[in-house]
Amino acid sequence: MITVPVSLGPRSYEVRLGNFPTDLAADAIADAVGKASGVAILVDGNVSERSPRVRPLCEALAHRLPHVNVLPLAGGEACKTFAQLETTCQWLATMGYDRGAALVAIGGGAACDHTGFAAAIYMRGVDFVLCPTTLLALVDASVGGKTAVDLQAGKNLVGAFHQPRLVLGDLGFLQTLPAREQAAGMAEVVKAGLIADAPLFERLERESDALSPAALPEITAAAVRMKADVVARDERESNLRAILNFGHTLGHALEAASGFALLHGEAVSLGMIAALTLGAHRGHNDQELIARTRALLARLRLPVDAAGRFTPEVLARVEVDKKRRGGGVRFVFVPAPGRAVFEDIALADLREDVRTCLG
Ligand SMILES: NC(=O)c1ccc[n+]([C@@H]2O[C@H](COP(=O)([O-])OP(=O)(O)OC[C@H]3O[C@@H](n4cnc5c(N)ncnc54)[C@H](O)[C@@H]3O)[C@@H](O)[C@H]2O)c1
Ligand SMILES: [Zn+2]
Repeated sequence: MITVPVSLGPRSYEVRLGNFPTDLAADAIADAVGKASGVAILVDGNVSERSPRVRPLCEALAHRLPHVNVLPLAGGEACKTFAQLETTCQWLATMGYDRGAALVAIGGGAACDHTGFAAAIYMRGVDFVLCPTTLLALVDASVGGKTAVDLQAGKNLVGAFHQPRLVLGDLGFLQTLPAREQAAGMAEVVKAGLIADAPLFERLERESDALSPAALPEITAAAVRMKADVVARDERESNLRAILNFGHTLGHALEAASGFALLHGEAVSLGMIAALTLGAHRGHNDQELIARTRALLARLRLPVDAAGRFTPEVLARVEVDKKRRGGGVRFVFVPAPGRAVFEDIALADLREDVRTCLG
C-alpha cells in the first residue's frame, strides 16, 4: 500500500493506494468515519453490476458501522444532476440520517462528485469517504475536494469545495474497467508528469506497460502526489491550482463539442497536443517535446491527431475568463517536462494561432 497525505490543516486526509482485501478496506473506512451515527454507501449502479468487489465491501462495512444502507446511483455522468442529488438527499432524510452521518462513494469521478456534493450540502455538511473505481477518479477526481453536478448550460457549474476524510484507492476495481476508460485515465497521469513531475513523464516513456499491476501503484501514487501537492498549496484555485488545467482549455471545448462522444481523457490528450503545438509557435517549448508527448499518448492508445479538429464551432466553446481584459484565456504551457507556466492570451490571438498551427 502507498499512502499519500493531502495536507490541508484540519481538513487533511490520506489517499491510500493498493490492492486491498475486503477486510482491510472496510477497517480503513470504518476508522475514517469513526463515530458516525450512520453510514450511507452511494454506489455507481454500473459498478455494483460489474464489480464483484462491491457487495463484500458493503457487507463488511455493515458489520463494522452503525445504520449502513446502500443507495445505487445512476451509472456514470447520469448521476450528476440536481434531480439525482435531490433524490439522494430525500433518501438520506427518509432513511433517518442525521448530522452525524457519513457518506461513502463507490464509483468513478461522477459518483465521487455526486457523493461529495451531497455530503457538502446534506444537513449543511457531513463527512464522506471516496472509493474511486476508475483510473481517472483515482488519480484526479478523488483528490482535492472539488465536488459538483452539471447544468444543461455546462458541466460542473454547481458545486462546493468539501474535502473527504479518506480516499481508499483500491486498484483491484480497475479489473472490470473497460480498456478505453483506462486509457482515458492515463491522459491525466501524463499531464501530471508534464506539468510537475519530469521523472514520472520519463518513467511513462520507458515503461512499456504503465497499466501493469506491478507499475500501477507507483505510477498512480506519483500522479496523486503531484495533485495533492498543488492542492495543498492552493486549495481553492486562486492561482497555482490552475496549472492542472493544462490541455483542458481546448480539451474541454472539444469534449463538449463532441457531445461527449470523446471521453474526458481523450479530449485532454488532444488538448495537450494542441497546447504544446501552440506552445512551440509562441516559443514556450520545442518540437521535440511535441514528438515525445505524441509518441507516449499514442502508445497509451489515446488520440493525438489534433489538426483540423478545432473548428470555429469548437473554439466558440472555449471558456473565456471574464476577469481578464478583452475576455482572454489564461493558458497553461509546458516549456519542459515537469514545468508549467501561464500566459494570458486574448481570444482573437488564440483563434489566429489555432488557425495557423492546427488548421
Ligand atoms: N472533482 C474533481 O476534481 C474532478 C476531476 C476530474 C474529473 N472529475 C469528474 O469526474 C467525472 C469523470 O470521471 P470518470 O472518468 O471516472 O467517469 P465516470 O464516473 O462516468 O465512469 C466512467 C464509466 O465507467 C463506469 N465504471 C466506473 N468504475 C467502473 C469499474 N470499476 N468497472 C466497470 N465500470 C466502471 C461508470 O459507470 C461509467 O459508465 C466527470 O464528471 C468529471 O467532471 C472531477
Ligand atoms: Zn481533467
